[in-house]
Amino acid sequence: MKRVTLTTLRDMKQAGEKIACLTAYDYSFAALLDRAGIDLVMVGDSLGMVMQGHDSTLPVKTAHVVYHCQCVARGLARALLVADMPFMSYQQGPERAIVAAGRLMQDGGAQVVKLEGGEAMAETVRFLTERGIPVCAHLGLTPQSVHQLGGYRVQGREAGDADRLQHDARVLEQAGAGLLVLEAVPASLGKAITASLSIPTIGIGAGVNTDGQILVLQDMLGLYPRPSPKFSRNFMTGSDSIEAAVKAYVTAVKAQTFPGPENSYG
Ligand code: KIV
Repeated sequence: MKRVTLTTLRDMKQAGEKIACLTAYDYSFAALLDRAGIDLVMVGDSLGMVMQGHDSTLPVKTAHVVYHCQCVARGLARALLVADMPFMSYQQGPERAIVAAGRLMQDGGAQVVKLEGGEAMAETVRFLTERGIPVCAHLGLTPQSVHQLGGYRVQGREAGDADRLQHDARVLEQAGAGLLVLEAVPASLGKAITASLSIPTIGIGAGVNTDGQILVLQDMLGLYPRPSPKFSRNFMTGSDSIEAAVKAYVTAVKAQTFPGPENSYG
């Protein structure tokens, strides 16, 4: 079976084929997602909330992501494995970031690392990518900045904010980012940023016109005991197994029936 790479995802963008992504944190779910046709599996620092029960992603440490990455890596034969760089593992600068990124790849088995933030992160993205570490950037609602943002709220609604996000996206692409996650932004902004970049965008609450979609596994299976965000959908509704729910998600992403208007922001 041919492994998905960043090149595969770029080719999919060019061909107009949507990229189906989910988070996972363990071996069994990773293997199920791989079988069901998920293209990219992310060990997100959302593990702090859905696996550890915290109120935010801030308590997650690099060692936690490494551990969950090792478990997930053993379950994947095809999907690309992306690992989140936890809060305070990269904000102090490129030299600190490369140590954490190295652990995620060398010990965890990650193929790409993800970090949050705009232009301020461009130097770090350049430093990592010039040294052979593929980077996925993350803009919009960046959960590690929840206290600065004043909560989990939609970003980019004001004209100035939308312009800044478009600028940040271009700068991060120029710095070498190979992928961009766009979280909780108006659908029109998700579409405009996607059209302006040659790297694939992966939306989560960014409308149907991004190059791919990602959800937190526990949200889309209806397992998380707290309320799920508007941008998620429970794919267990109408499915008789977890594998059927994941396959329904893959089909809906590829056919662009997910996200619907009810999962998107104006
Ligand atoms: O932490 C996470 O799981 C994420 C994705 C949902 C994009 O950042």
